[in-house]
Amino acid sequence: MSDHPILITGATGKTGAEAARDLLEQGLPVRALVHRQDDRSTRLATLGAEIATGDLLDIDAVRRALEGVRRAYFVYPIEPGLIEATTTFAQAGAEAGLEVVVNMSQISARRTSHSDAARQHWLAERVLDWSPAGAVHLRPTFFAEWLPINWRFTDGTGVLRLPFAEGRHAPIAATDQARVIAAILANPDEHIGHTYPLYGPVEMNHHEIAEVMSGVLGVPVRYDPISTDAYAEILRDVGRSEHLIQHLSAVAIDYREGIFAGTDDTIERITGKPPQTVEQYVTTNRNLFPTTR
Ligand SMILES: NC(=O)c1ccc[n+]([C@@H]2O[C@H](COP(=O)([O-])OP(=O)(O)OC[C@H]3O[C@@H](n4cnc5c(N)ncnc54)[C@H](OP(=O)(O)O)[C@@H]3O)[C@@H](O)[C@H]2O)c1
Repeated sequence: MSDHPILITGATGKTGAEAARDLLEQGLPVRALVHRQDDRSTRLATLGAEIATGDLLDIDAVRRALEGVRRAYFVYPIEPGLIEATTTFAQAGAEAGLEVVVNMSQISARRTSHSDAARQHWLAERVLDWSPAGAVHLRPTFFAEWLPINWRFTDGTGVLRLPFAEGRHAPIAATDQARVIAAILANPDEHIGHTYPLYGPVEMNHHEIAEVMSGVLGVPVRYDPISTDAYAEILRDVGRSEHLIQHLSAVAIDYREGIFAGTDDTIERITGKPPQTVEQYVTTNRNLFPTTR
């Protein structure tokens, strides 16, 4: 195994960067496929990763990145091209002798989803199931990283403006997902063929999330429930893609209907350590929640 680097795609992204770091800390060889070379890829190289640069839609680049690889993490952002990127990865993996792929999907992935991205995640899972490599699918609920993305601080108050009504989920941090990815890639046998929903430890609605954030940050924080149309306008204003807006508008309804809810012990069972709470996440990442204005 030590002769074969483990390929981490999306290696400068939220889950990929942490998974690469975790594997390197375990002493395992990592090849990091990065979209472009920048400070993020330099950090990975400093940690000891071999850097490969390329586009997941370019089969020759992906084939080169997979040379000599037996285990890999596959992740693609919520952008058009997931099916093409997954098919490209599956074909290049078959050519290169890939044996195990850990695939980032999402909790709302299903054949009938109204979200284009979620339906494509379901199809992408099937493509990898047909491919010769053994597949493990991860289906996380909303990441804790959505909290800083949606954080606004005005007039002495933090506000989360989101279209989730009174729905609930257990936010999960990317670092905890990365520990799962690394643990599976280090010892894949018992996981092949499994689909794991991934949750944080405590299911909450956004009023409860705001209350916990307020306790950590020492400022008032409130949840402002808004319509899906109002949220779509907010996303458009900050330049988000129509693909992402279509996805979030559709899964907001799923969220209200409980598709994102739940919690279990999968992360602790696979990694030996429980995932972090919202309180721990906000405490660790306090700098991502500015409280001056
Ligand atoms: N956020 C959530 O709440 C949530 C919940 C459940 C599931 N998910 C799933 O999580 C996945 C995203 O994972 P993440 O948050 O770890 O990723 P991320 O932070 O969005 O990072 C994406 C990575 O992929 C790279 N990349 C983008 N396009 C590429 C291309 N064409 N070729 C090569 N590399 C490319 C990016 O590099 P550059 O930055 O240089 O472009 C970046 O390193 C999505 O599939 C999403 O459905 C997310």
